[in-house]
Amino acid sequence: MQVSGQKIVVLGTGGTIAGKAATAGDNIGYAAAQVGVEQLLHAVPGLKAAAGGDLLAEQIAQLDSKDMEFSVWSALAKRCASALADPGVRGLVITHGTDTLEETAWFLRSVLDARKPVVLTCAMRPATALTPDGPQNLLDAVAVATTVGAQGVVVVAAGVVHGAQRVQKVHPYRVDAFNSGDAGPLGWVEEGAVRLAQNWPSALSGQAQPAIEKIVNCARWPRVEIVMSYAGATGALVNSLVRDGVQGIVVAATGNGAIHHALESALLRAQAAGVKVVRSTRCPQGQVLPKPGDALPDSRGLSPVKARISLMLELLP
Ligand code: SIN
Repeated sequence: MQVSGQKIVVLGTGGTIAGKAATAGDNIGYAAAQVGVEQLLHAVPGLKAAAGGDLLAEQIAQLDSKDMEFSVWSALAKRCASALADPGVRGLVITHGTDTLEETAWFLRSVLDARKPVVLTCAMRPATALTPDGPQNLLDAVAVATTVGAQGVVVVAAGVVHGAQRVQKVHPYRVDAFNSGDAGPLGWVEEGAVRLAQNWPSALSGQAQPAIEKIVNCARWPRVEIVMSYAGATGALVNSLVRDGVQGIVVAATGNGAIHHALESALLRAQAAGVKVVRSTRCPQGQVLPKPGDALPDSRGLSPVKARISLMLELLP
């Protein structure tokens, strides 16, 4: 069921959903982030009616999400927090590139007290394509944002609703490019109606306001890098990062958090020198299962890129 009467705020950040190619048949040689969010909304028949009230478009950024910056995250979090606090706003939709969408989703999940829906959506085909997927994704995102009881930071793409914690981009070309792994999707959007498979994500009470203040006031984000364990890995990268003043390192370990002995020695030295080290797995599904006596803490189920965001937030001054 959907409800009407309050505003849906759509925040544009760029991505392929706003991309343009020279020809309609070109799905890879396009420039992302060319079309304004207002224009994107106008191009979707029935979107205003689906919103059931006002649709307010705001351009927060216009970038290819591979180039996502902390300054954009900060502006986005600040605007989301003010919109969530506005009683006239029913929910938020954010248009975003697919490449780092899971990172922005996890960042927002970590800093917003989202008792209303914050729905990120995207496209794998540019707006100029023969069959662009952006318009349907926008309609589906608005359907989620207007669903009674919807809350939390979620991702909607190709008719599937994903939670921010588990969602990952798993394909570089397919329109159905996202997956929630073992957890499965939160639900689906079918003909404008949401069919839930799991509960909506719970809101973050109490921690949100201080987190937003820290982010907005932070002059320089903590430096946290990701290194990977693989055959023949060495500690050279870690040693050089430590010399360069890194504050945190996430290791994308093999299997259940196993690390090549040479890399592990360097990480243990880094940890002893005061660098925060977190162990995630490079496996696309499952999570590191901690064992008694583990010398390096695990990422509590977060993928390497999401563990990096959590560590940066933890290290914010
Ligand atoms: C981007 O991430 O901004 C470009 C790629 C995409 O949206 O699919």
